[in-house]
Amino acid sequence: MNTTNKTLRHFLTLTDLSAEEFRSLINRAIELKTIQHRGEIFEPLKNKVLAMIFEKSSTRTRVSFESGMAQFGGHAIFLSPRDTQLGRGEPIEDSARVLSSMTDCIMVRTFAHEKVELLAKYSSVPVINGLTDEVHPCQLLADMQTYFEQRGDIKGKTVTWVGDGNNMCHSYMHAAKLLDFKLNIACPEGFEPQQEFILETRDFIEITQDVAAASANSDLIVTDVWASMGQEEEQKIRERAFRNYQVTPELMKSANEDALFMHCLPAHRGEEVSADVIDGKQSVVWDEAENRLHAQKALLEFLLAG
Ligand code: CP
Ligand code: NVA
Repeated sequence: MNTTNKTLRHFLTLTDLSAEEFRSLINRAIELKTIQHRGEIFEPLKNKVLAMIFEKSSTRTRVSFESGMAQFGGHAIFLSPRDTQLGRGEPIEDSARVLSSMTDCIMVRTFAHEKVELLAKYSSVPVINGLTDEVHPCQLLADMQTYFEQRGDIKGKTVTWVGDGNNMCHSYMHAAKLLDFKLNIACPEGFEPQQEFILETRDFIEITQDVAAASANSDLIVTDVWASMGQEEEQKIRERAFRNYQVTPELMKSANEDALFMHCLPAHRGEEVSADVIDGKQSVVWDEAENRLHAQKALLEFLLAG
């Protein structure tokens, strides 16, 4: 229930933020992390309710939003298609009207990005995209927070994406444009990012099939699963196509000496990343995962508390 006259803001892609807002969310997330680690009680969202629709599986996204709302003094409701009317075909427009009349914010994880857009169109409260087939903007808030914490501002740095031109890759492309870093995308032929994202971010990205060349002089190496949720049937084809796109210690050596490794998780050791890289010294995946909590708390505060 939107009881204020504030202009309604949604977070469907990273480009819903200005570069300035993105940087200030990162800084706020770092502050909120300190507050949380000190054990201070901070409840800016007392009595606020977040509805969370999950049409795909999740560990991090669900737990970070649910814990974040509880720590902020609010409440989160987990909704799965299995036991809501959405799963029995109630129109998204009707669900949006009803949920937004009873809650203060709606988070949704689903397949088609258009579904999130439709939900936002009919919602009277902010809608947050918790992952679609196209983008995963919440993850980028956490990834960028992690980079800033470890190395400072990412402006002017070089990031290499290894693997599928998928939802995570698209959000990295948006981040490159907003935060002004160079993004090398090393992917096999036929698995490039979508054209509309290439056109939107063309001045900040370079696409190649040469992983080693792409990784040279990089400050951050990032990868993701070869088959995303919804692509389970393509697993075998993808294993063949991505065979040479594993992040190995050798690949990490071609990057800068102080390069970091990130992965949004869940990871498949022995596929997109070798165990010695993800469990090694350059990997910051556990900070990255924890930062989902802090970064999304900064987002919730921005959207709901002003
Ligand atoms: N990285 C991420 O979004 O994880 P979950 O699928 O566990 O939410
Ligand atoms: N690309 C992956 C990300 C999971 C967090 C997927 O969509 O399944």
